[in-house]
Order: sequence, then structure tokens, then C-alpha cells
Amino acid sequence: MKYQLTKHFLIGLCSLLGMNSCRANTNNAEENNTNIEMNTEQKSSQSDLGEDTKKLVVFFSHTGENYNVGYIKKGNTHIIADMIADATGADIFEIVPEKSYPADYNECIELAKQELQKNTRPAIKDDVPIEDYDIVFIGYPNWWGNPPMCVYTFIEKHNWTDKTVIPFITHEGSGMGGTDRKIATACKGANTLTEKGLVIQGKVAQENQVSAQKSVMSWLNNLGIKTK
Ligand SMILES: Cc1cc2nc3c(=O)[nH]c(=O)nc-3n(C[C@H](O)[C@H](O)[C@H](O)COP(=O)(O)O)c2cc1C
Repeated sequence: MKYQLTKHFLIGLCSLLGMNSCRANTNNAEENNTNIEMNTEQKSSQSDLGEDTKKLVVFFSHTGENYNVGYIKKGNTHIIADMIADATGADIFEIVPEKSYPADYNECIELAKQELQKNTRPAIKDDVPIEDYDIVFIGYPNWWGNPPMCVYTFIEKHNWTDKTVIPFITHEGSGMGGTDRKIATACKGANTLTEKGLVIQGKVAQENQVSAQKSVMSWLNNLGIKTK
């Protein structure tokens, strides 16, 4: 089963993105983590990330069968979203599509690919007034090198002027893959912290939460965001 998933995933992913981009994206993830280390000295100049800011964590995450982790009850990105909200005291909101994505991995990747190719905006349930917040963390899994389309549905419902947007992503090899720049383009008028987003492997989030928690805390501290 694992071999089949791995083979299917790699063939599909690399045919959509191209082999080189698979390799390049992995490097980006490593560079991104290095950037976090290198940016430690910059944090004092980021006054807009200070204590008095109102913070919100928005995320999409998929449960059911997933690559490299089997059937999961709580999605990888959901685990990281909870860690960020707990550490910062931020409010939290989950983007839930009106029509759930299939639990079956192969069906899910097929649907996600179709949505990406057609640039669809799947309807979502509920909403949160992001206009009330200063900092919005946006989290999602890397799906075919992109944020899932329902994340754009959420973003396009809102006015992002003057918000600080901080992306975080879970993945299984492609890292951030430039999705932070896509989020920046979608969140018109926001100050999106591209190159400073958090990148965590889904398997680590799911199965090594001590390590994932350390990465989250170190990332927040390096950004200059106060933690509990
Ligand atoms: C539809 C789909 C597409 C995916 N595409 C990629 C990809 O292009 N690159 C990658 O590294 N991981 C990919 N993955 C793996 C997920 O990014 C990874 O398992 C992530 O941690 C899932 O997070 P979640 O549990 O919050 O949904 C994909 C998974 C699915 C279901």
C-alpha cells in the first residue's frame, strides 16, 4: 500500500510540476528554514508583530488517508495550527469546504488536481471577520505545489488591506514551493511575510510532535512574536 501511494504520488507530482521543480522545491524548504535562522536579528524592527496585535490562525487541513501517514483523524496542518494558536493566544478558524474532499488518498489527489487545473473556488462553510485582526497566520497543506483551492475561496471573501499575513505549510517533499508568493498575490494589500513562513513535513507534525513544537516555537521567537 505504502509503495503504491509513494509511486502514484511521485509520478503524479513530478508529471504535474516537472522533476526539476520537485528537487528545487525541496531545496527551497531547506533555504526557508535557514532564512528563519538568519532573520533572528531583524525581529526588533518588526513592531507590527508586537504584543498588542490581535492574532488569528486560519487553516485548511484534510483528514482521512494521507501520504506517508496512513489514515489520520486530525490533519497535519491542523496540528500545527493548534500549536501556533496555543503558543500565541491567537483565535483559530478552520476553512471547511461545503463538500468534503474524499477520505481516499487517490480520489483526493485526483479531485485536487482537477480543481487546480480548472482554478475552481469550492464553496466553504462559515466565515470569520479577518478585518478585526492585525496578524493572520494562514496554514494549508502543499497540494500539487499550491494551496488547496478552498484557501483562495476564503481569501477572496475578505479585505486584506494592511493585515500582516504569515503563511505556514505542511508538505511531503515540496516544501513551501513558492506558495507563500501565491498567498501574497491573493491577499491584496496585505504585508505577507514571504520567505519567512513555517515549513514542516506532514509526517513530523503527525508523528513527532515534540520536534514539530520545537520548530513552531523557534519560528515564532525568530519572528519576534510573543509566546506564552
Ligand atoms: C491532494 C494532495 C496533493 C499533494 N501534493 C503534494 C505536493 O505537491 N508536494 C508535497 O510535498 N506534498 C503533497 N501532498 C502531501 C501533503 O502536502 C502533506 O501530506 C500534508 O502534510 C497534508 O496536510 P494535511 O493533513 O493538513 O492535509 C499532497 C497531498 C494531497 C492529499
